[in-house]
Amino acid sequence: KQVIRIGLLGFGTVGQGVWKHLQGNDSALERRLGVKLELVRAAVSDLKKKREVRVPASRLTDDPYAVVDDPSIDIVCELIGGTKLARTLTLRALKAGKIVVSANKALICKHGEEIFSAARRAGTHYFFEASVAGGIPIIKTLREGLVANRFSLIYGILNGTSNYILTRMEREGLSFPDILDDARSLGYVEADESLDLDGWDAAHKAVILAYLAHGRWVKLKEMLVEGIRGITQYDIAYARELGCKIKLLAVISRDFSTNCLSVRLHPALISKRELMASVDEVYNGVSLTGDVVGTTLLVGRGAGQDATSSAVISDIADAVYLLKGVPAPFICEEDEDVYAALGAEVELA
Ligand code: HSE
Repeated sequence: KQVIRIGLLGFGTVGQGVWKHLQGNDSALERRLGVKLELVRAAVSDLKKKREVRVPASRLTDDPYAVVDDPSIDIVCELIGGTKLARTLTLRALKAGKIVVSANKALICKHGEEIFSAARRAGTHYFFEASVAGGIPIIKTLREGLVANRFSLIYGILNGTSNYILTRMEREGLSFPDILDDARSLGYVEADESLDLDGWDAAHKAVILAYLAHGRWVKLKEMLVEGIRGITQYDIAYARELGCKIKLLAVISRDFSTNCLSVRLHPALISKRELMASVDEVYNGVSLTGDVVGTTLLVGRGAGQDATSSAVISDIADAVYLLKGVPAPFICEEDEDVYAALGAEVELA
C-alpha cells in the first residue's frame, strides 16, 4: 500500500489533536483513503514541555527545518500560528513541492496572495479548511458545494470564544472576565487573547471568506472591526427587551448593481426569530445567500481541539486524493456493510 508521510509544525492543542485522531482512526482512515498515513515527526518549540498526547521522543524535534526540509515528507501541516516563522516555513515547504495544510487564518489574511501564488508556481497545493469555522467545512462549501453561485450576502458567527462568552453572559448574568478562564481551559482561546476579544480572529476569517467568494483581498485596516470587550449586562438586557440577542457577526455583502463589496465585523443585535440567533456556545454559524442556491445555513463547532483536527484531517484527505490523482471515492468498501444494515433498519421501521 502507498505510504503518505506527514510532518507537523507545531504540537499544541491542534497539533496534538491531529496526531491523536490520525493514530486513533488509522485503520478506518487507511481503508477510506486507500493509503497508509505515517506521522513522521512534529516540530515543537520546547522539547521538555509536558503534553497531553504522548509520542516517542524520536518523533519530536525542536528544529522546524527537520520537517520542511525532509525529502520523505509529502504533507506539512502548519499549526504553529503567528505570521513570521509560519510564512517562512510555508513558503519553503511549498517551494520544495510539498503540500501544505494550514489552520493559520492570520497568515492567510496577511500573506494569502503570496502563499497561493507560491503554491501555484511550485505546482503544489495549499489547503486551509481549518482556518475558518473549525467544524464547518466552509472552505470546501464555497469552493465546491456552492461554486455555481454569486453571493450577495455571507454573514455569521466566526469566533467560538466570543460566542461562548456572549452565551454564558446571557444565560448566567456573568461579566466576560468571569467566563474567560473557562474558555481558556477548554482550549478555545488564542495565545494572543486580543485576537478573540477584539474581533481580529473573526476579521481574519471574514477576509478569507470574502476572498473565496469575491476574489478580492480586503485589508484589515479598511474594515470596521470591533470585538466583544465593550459588551455589558446592560446591552444584553436591552437586547432581550427587543426580542434580540447580541452576536459577534462578520458581514460580507456585495451589491452587484454598484459592484460594491462591504466586509465588517462587530457585535450586532439579531432577532431571536432568526436561526442564527440560536447558534450558541462555541458553535459557529455561516449563512450564505447565493443567486442560484438561495440561502444556506451551516452550523458547527467553531473552536477546540477536535473540531479543528477534523478540518485539518479533511485537508490531509484532499491532499491524499491529489497525490494519488483520484477524486474522493463516492463510497468506500468498509462502509457498504453499514449502508446495508441501515437499509434493513429502515425497512423494519
Ligand atoms: N480562537 C478561535 C475561536 C479558535 O475562538 O474561534 C478557532 O479559530
